[in-house]
Amino acid sequence: MKLKAIDHIGIAVHSVDAVKETYRKAFDLEPAFEEVVEDQKVRIVAFAIGGTRLEYMEPTAADSPISKFLEKKGEGLHHVAIAVDDVRNVLEHLKAAGFPLIDEAPRIGAEGKQIAFLHPKGFHKVLFELTSGE
Ligand code: CO
Repeated sequence: MKLKAIDHIGIAVHSVDAVKETYRKAFDLEPAFEEVVEDQKVRIVAFAIGGTRLEYMEPTAADSPISKFLEKKGEGLHHVAIAVDDVRNVLEHLKAAGFPLIDEAPRIGAEGKQIAFLHPKGFHKVLFELTSGE
């Protein structure tokens, strides 16, 4: 089992259009990609920085997990995504080792990749996402 890279960092926001404007003004930078992820009810705007990305997520529905996050905590850091070879294998290992999981099985995230969230209480209060990476 190998942690290959920080695939991306997820940030919850009210408006990804506002973020695009911020990046234009501040850095003259356009998004690497934009996508709606139906499964998580979010619109994503991603900026490539070095070998990783910052992914800004805006909820597309009131029952999106990001809507709930914004209500509770406001805008800010949501998760850190780590690329691994095999999401299912890592989940099985962590489950056997007693770590609390949010997703017991991989689901489909941005760019059609397999992803799974691990519970922050097992990882020093940071929400980790495992991703199959590129
Ligand atoms: Co993510």
